[in-house]
Amino acid sequence: MLFRRFYDENLAQASYMIACEKTREAIVVDPNSDVAQYTRAAGSDRVRIAHVTETHIHADFLSGAHALAKAAGAALHLSGEGRKEWGYTSAALEVANLLRDGSHVDIGQIRVRAAHTPGHTPEHLSFFVSDLARGQDPVGALTGDFVFVGDVGRPDLLERAAGVKGSTEGSARELFQSLGRLRAEPDHLQIWPGHGAGSACGKSLGSMPQSTLGYEKLFNWAFAEQSEEEFVAKVLQDQPVPPRYFAVMKRVNRVGAEQPTIADPAWMGLTELENAIGRRATVIDTRSADKFAAGHVPGTLNIPLGKSFLNWTGALVPETEEFYFITETESDEAMKSLLGDLRKIGLTRVAGVFRSDVLREWKSHRGGLEQVQQLDPTSLKKVAAEGGLQIVDVRSPEEWSGGHLPGAIHIPLAQLPDRIRELDVTAPIVVHCRGGGRSSIATSFLKSQGVSDISNLAGGFDEWVAEGFEVESGKSAKHVVGRKSAKSINGRNSAKPSSGRTSAKSAHGRKSRTSPRARNAAKRVGGRNDATSASGRQSVTSSRRRLKK
Ligand SMILES: [Fe+2]
Repeated sequence: MLFRRFYDENLAQASYMIACEKTREAIVVDPNSDVAQYTRAAGSDRVRIAHVTETHIHADFLSGAHALAKAAGAALHLSGEGRKEWGYTSAALEVANLLRDGSHVDIGQIRVRAAHTPGHTPEHLSFFVSDLARGQDPVGALTGDFVFVGDVGRPDLLERAAGVKGSTEGSARELFQSLGRLRAEPDHLQIWPGHGAGSACGKSLGSMPQSTLGYEKLFNWAFAEQSEEEFVAKVLQDQPVPPRYFAVMKRVNRVGAEQPTIADPAWMGLTELENAIGRRATVIDTRSADKFAAGHVPGTLNIPLGKSFLNWTGALVPETEEFYFITETESDEAMKSLLGDLRKIGLTRVAGVFRSDVLREWKSHRGGLEQVQQLDPTSLKKVAAEGGLQIVDVRSPEEWSGGHLPGAIHIPLAQLPDRIRELDVTAPIVVHCRGGGRSSIATSFLKSQGVSDISNLAGGFDEWVAEGFEVESGKSAKHVVGRKSAKSINGRNSAKPSSGRTSAKSAHGRKSRTSPRARNAAKRVGGRNDATSASGRQSVTSSRRRLKK
């Protein structure tokens, strides 16, 4: 038996190719949209991809199952289970062989048996793999998003991402039952999961690439002795917020995605950047948070390249809108690879790319770049004590539950586009996360949406704790926005909101309830008409505040 694992670091996603050494036929399980990687691997292993399947309808990446089956001339197999609740569309199943609980596919001397393991999704299958040359008993199971190393697949995505109302608790109970059935399998069974650490398909996935059922029975919380009620409560507690693109992927993958082609990057210059900013288009600056904080084009969004880039881009950028990049990448090749990564989450509307030199040009032609105000914990403590400040915590629900700053407002970063309305954009805001990465993205997002008086807590929650400052526990999120005239942390007085909380522009690009003041703020801060210079901003450093360099 030939066994290959493909691991996409950016998606924290695993797919597998298993082949019979004798017949040189292979099956690929859970392919993503980088279809060429499988055909290349098949070529170098001198095997033919004869079968393609997937464990379930994925939410977190564009499936490559249909496209790979087509490219390789392979048979496509999809789950026919769970359709009463939510499954593949008839159109998707028309071109596939239906797999049900107990169905099997033979690939030479390899047998892949499907087992219906609902919970994460209603149609979810796990695949038990036997090497018939050695014996009938399975050597391992491709568990998809059912069992991970140290965790299980979250059962709430059907409701939260696909919008199937009221399905979460029932799915959690099904997951418990599925685990009960898996428990009966022998301990030596190898577990080959669909995701690793960093995936939003569970809450505490381990980074080991594989495990055994015996090990998981000992150390995976989901296999611990507990009642169904206890399990349901625990599995639903503190799941990460699904990024907005999950809902799109669910819809697309249910039908069977056409693979959009990747166009060559369209390199652009200052004039196009000015036009894009003028139109309030989304322009993502992919440089590091430090570089962005030191100087950026007003109205741009900072999402640094790295492991979380796809997650946050998929959370903050609507798939229906065109967007742009500012990048330090020089080569077409590297840019194409980035565009390919974006296609993996269904974002294909990249209208143009700017080299980071454009920042220098902007500076000389438009009179300056903006900076991100940094506030250290001591200064924040002093300013917060005076009241009228919104401290926005953009960490995950799990981190929040573990302890948070007194009086903070909890809006996980992925929810910021939908919940910006809860903030008073005319009053001062300080944003923080654990260490400063996510809060830098959030700060740039809020600035791009028109928030003018905003700072980033340098060092984040960790630095706050290191200073020995008070931490509140519990789940309640207290809002301490000054309803009276809120004093600016920049030392200015901001106006009373005209009608409660307002936002200048939602992330969808739609105008929301907006006060004239907020509209003005948006215009000014976005620098769409005249670039607010960084120096103007920096000069208002309050005497009660110490800026961290
Ligand atoms: Fe999934």
